[in-house]
Amino acid sequence: MAAPTIKLNNGLEIPVIGLGTWQSKPEEVTNAVEYALKEAGYRHIDCAWAYDNEKEVGEGIRRSGIPRSEIFVTSKLWCTHHHRVEEALDETLANLGTDYLDLYLVHWPIHLNPNGNHPKFPTRPDGSRDVLTDWPIRDTWAQMEAVLAKGKVRAIGVSNFSERILERDLLPHATVVPAVNQVELHLYNPQLGLVEYLKRKGIVPQAYSPLGSTGSPLLQDETAGALAQQYGLSTADVLLGYLVAKDIVTLPKSVTPARIKSNLEGALAAAKKLTKEDITKLDGVAASGKQNRLIQPPWGVDLGFDNWPVRVQGQ
Ligand code: A2P
Repeated sequence: MAAPTIKLNNGLEIPVIGLGTWQSKPEEVTNAVEYALKEAGYRHIDCAWAYDNEKEVGEGIRRSGIPRSEIFVTSKLWCTHHHRVEEALDETLANLGTDYLDLYLVHWPIHLNPNGNHPKFPTRPDGSRDVLTDWPIRDTWAQMEAVLAKGKVRAIGVSNFSERILERDLLPHATVVPAVNQVELHLYNPQLGLVEYLKRKGIVPQAYSPLGSTGSPLLQDETAGALAQQYGLSTADVLLGYLVAKDIVTLPKSVTPARIKSNLEGALAAAKKLTKEDITKLDGVAASGKQNRLIQPPWGVDLGFDNWPVRVQGQ
C-alpha cells in the first residue's frame, strides 16, 4: 500500500509517511529499509548523517530493487558541519550510494565547534556542549541554497527550528523558504501553534518520534486507546493517523517487519476513520496535563520552543 503525497512549496511531492531510522542499529536497518520498500510499500526513507547508519540504509535501498527515482530520500546536515555543507552532503551521498537527495535538512539550528574534542558532540572543559553561539544560521542556509541550485538535492528544509528562530534568524535572510520543518510532534507534544504557523508560511511540518520514541508512554494513552478500540485499530495506528489526518508528514521508526507494515497501513486507515471531533479530542490531550516533550538534547541554548525548559549556560 502506497502512502498519498503532500506537495511541498517547490512543487515536489513527498509521501505523507516515511520510515524513520533514528536509533535503528546498523545491523538491523538494512533489513528494515529493504522490507519497508519491497514488502510494505514505503517510498520514503528519513535518514541523517548523525544516525551513524547511512551506509546500511543505502544497502537496504539497493537490496529492495526499487528504482531510486521512486523513493523519496531525506538526510540531514549535522551540527559540526555547518561551515562545509557541500562536503558534508557529498559524504552523505557517498554513504547512501546515491547521487542526489530528495530533501536535505539542517538537523538543528546549532553550530557545534568543528575543531572541538569530538567529531559529533564536542564539549567544553566543563562538560557543556561546545556550541559556536555567534554563528549566523543564515550562513548555513546560504550553503543549503547553493547545493539546491547545483541540483545535488531536490528540496531543502530545516529540523528543530522554532517559530522564533525561523522568524528572527532565517526567513528574513532566505531566498528559498524551507520546504519542511521536522520537529518532535506527537500526542503529548502536538505543538499546535508551531504547526499552524508553519502551514501559514507554506512550510510542511514533519513529525519525528510520532509514537513517542523508544519506551514510549503514548502507547498506553487512554484517549488514543479508546479510539483504537472504537475503530478496531491499534493505539499506534491512532497515534500515527492523528498526525497524518492533519497533513503532517509522519516518520515512524521501526526495525520490526510487522510494525513497519502496520504503521503504514494502520496510519492511513486511522487517518480516514478519525473524525474532526476525534482530532479535536486528541489535540486536547497534551493540554489536559499530558504535555511531555521527550527529546531534549542538552544544547545549553534557548531554541525558542514551548515546553522546553532550558538551563542556559551561565545560569
Ligand atoms: P522497534 O523499532 O523495535 O519496532 P518513534 O517512531 O516515535 O521514534 O518510535 C519508535 C519506537 O516505537 C521504537 O522503539 C519501535 O520499536 C517502536 N514501535 C514502532 N512501531 C510500533 C508499533 N506499531 N507498536 C509498538 N511499538 C512500535
